[in-house]
Amino acid sequence: MQGLRLWEYLYCEIYQELFVQRNYIRICDLKPGQKVEAVFLLLNSQSRPKRDGSNFVTMALKDATGKITGIMWDNFAPLINGSIRDNDYVEVAGEVLLYNNMPQFRINKIAPVPDGEVDAAFFLPRSPVPPDQMDRELAKRIAEIEDPDYRALVVAVFSNSTFLDKFRQAPSAVSMHQAYLGGLMEHTLCVVRNAISIAENYPLANRSLLIAGGLLHDIGKVVEFSYDKKIAYSDTGRLLGHISIGNSMVEAHCCHLGDFPVAKKILIQHLILSHHGLQEYGSPKCPATLEALILHHADLLDAQLSNFTEYMAHAGRTGIRWEFSPMFDRHMFGASEIIDDGQAVSNLARELASPAAIKTSLTGGNVIPSDELLTALSKSSVCELRLK
Ligand SMILES: [Fe+2]
Ligand SMILES: [Fe+2]
Repeated sequence: MQGLRLWEYLYCEIYQELFVQRNYIRICDLKPGQKVEAVFLLLNSQSRPKRDGSNFVTMALKDATGKITGIMWDNFAPLINGSIRDNDYVEVAGEVLLYNNMPQFRINKIAPVPDGEVDAAFFLPRSPVPPDQMDRELAKRIAEIEDPDYRALVVAVFSNSTFLDKFRQAPSAVSMHQAYLGGLMEHTLCVVRNAISIAENYPLANRSLLIAGGLLHDIGKVVEFSYDKKIAYSDTGRLLGHISIGNSMVEAHCCHLGDFPVAKKILIQHLILSHHGLQEYGSPKCPATLEALILHHADLLDAQLSNFTEYMAHAGRTGIRWEFSPMFDRHMFGASEIIDDGQAVSNLARELASPAAIKTSLTGGNVIPSDELLTALSKSSVCELRLK
C-alpha cells in the first residue's frame, strides 16, 4: 500500500471486489471440454420433469457474441425460488459439452450478479462503425439541409440531448438488420446516403425534404425498442410502432416551433408514414410523392443489404453455405464460391458442345429429350444423363 493514499487503496479494493473478480468469457470462444466460471445474461430458464419425477432446468445464456443453452441437474434452487429471474446477470460454473452436435453448458453452480457490478457493454453487440464517425456524418447531413424550415425541425429533434443519447445507442431492429447498439444511427445515415445517391438521377426531388425525412424516418425506434440488457420491443413499441411514434414526435416538434409551415409538415410526415411502402409492412399510407418513393427504396435497400451482409459474415464464420432468411422468405447463398455442382454443369455443357455430340444431334439419331436435359440441369448432376 506504499505510495497509495487511503482513498486510493479503498478504491482499488472496492473496484477489485466489484469488477476484477468477475470473469467474462465470450460465448463464441467456448469450446467443448472447457471448464468455465463466468458471468452471462440469463435470457430465460425452464424447469422440466425427469423420468424419475424430479426436475432439471434448461436455460438460455447470452452475451454480445451469441447464445448458448445451459442445463442444470442440481443446485438450481435460485432459479426456482425467484432469487434469479429472466434477464438477470448470473455467474455460472460448469463445463461445455457437445449435445446433438451443439455446444451445451452443463452448469453446476449459479448465482445472481447485481446489474451495477457488470460491464454491460460485454452483453450487447455494438455497431462496427465508430460513434465519432457517425456523429460527424450526422452533423454534416444536418448542415446540408438548405431549406431553413426542414433544417430547423431536424435541429430541434437532434439538439435534445436525452433524445440524441438514445438515438446514438438504439438498435435498428430486434433481429432483422443492424440489431446492435448504434444500429439505428448507422442505418439512418446509410438510408440518407442511399437517398441522396438515388436523387442524383431524379433532380426533381427536393433534396432538403429528402435528407430531413431520411434523418427522421425511424426516430420512433428510440421508443419502440428497449436496449439496456437485451434488445427487445418495449410495450409502447409493440402497441404503437415506430412509424406512429415518429409521426407524433414530428407533430410535437412542429407545434413547438410555432410557425412551422403546415404544408411542409404534412410532406415530411408523409415520408415517415409511408417509408415501409405498403400497409402490410406497417405503413398506414403508401408513398405518394417522389421523395417518399425514393426514401422507401433507400430504406428497403439498406435493410435488405445490411441483413444480407450480416448473414454473409455469419456464414463466413460458421461455414454455413445456405440458410433460410425470414427477411427474404427464401434460402440465401452465404458462401463465396460454388462447389461441385457448378463443375458438373460445366462438364455437361462441354460434352454437349463437343463435335461428336453436335454431329449426333444433327443427324437426328441421338437427341437428348429437352425435359430430361432440364431435369439433369436442375439436379445439377450429369450422372444419370445418357445420350440416347
Ligand atoms: Fe422504419
Ligand atoms: Fe429505416
